[in-house]
Amino acid sequence: MEVFEAFRKRHSYRYGYTDQDVSREDLVRIVEAGMLAPSGKNCQTTEFVIIDDKNTIKEISQMHPSNQAMQQAKAYIACIVNKEPPAVYEGLAFEIEDCAAATENMLLAITALGYASVWVDGWIRDPQRNKKISDLIGLSDSKVIRIILPIGVAAKEVSQPPKKDFTQRAWFNSYKKSS
Ligand SMILES: Cc1cc2nc3c(=O)[nH]c(=O)nc-3n(C[C@H](O)[C@H](O)[C@H](O)COP(=O)(O)O)c2cc1C
Repeated sequence: MEVFEAFRKRHSYRYGYTDQDVSREDLVRIVEAGMLAPSGKNCQTTEFVIIDDKNTIKEISQMHPSNQAMQQAKAYIACIVNKEPPAVYEGLAFEIEDCAAATENMLLAITALGYASVWVDGWIRDPQRNKKISDLIGLSDSKVIRIILPIGVAAKEVSQPPKKDFTQRAWFNSYKKSS
């Protein structure tokens, strides 16, 4: 799939999945796309735990009552950052931004490979949920799951919600006044 087509086709998917599994080969390709993302000072801080173990999936799938994609995922990718990221440039850390860039690359790869997902971020910030999944994947105390992506083949057709017009959000040369 051409990259501009993937930008348009990517959407947040929160519905059910078909029974089709996600192959390890595809999971590796998706995470490799994440690893190719830019990162502050090229520190490549985001780490990934790819969850395709049936028992672990079952435990996680029971945790999100309002998101069918989380309930029916065939795999998850947990994106991990340091709880207290060290500064890497002029006193600044970029781990959240690194993680976001990796996540978008993975969402585009997921789309290009014919799967659907959603950026689950707010939900995983709850400390109890985070700890439960962290324990399931053997995460050490200094690390935290920042984003989790459920993956599967969409059972329902969903398209990207409308985005604002170009002219509402972008201008040449002057803010809110193109010249
Ligand atoms: C930083 C960030 C956090 C998000 N957190 C969640 C989340 O916790 N749960 C969820 O269902 N979607 C989450 N989303 C997905 C957004 O709701 C979604 O991108 C937005 O509604 C636009 O829809 P689209 O992705 O289909 O274009 C998040 C997206 C971003 C970029």
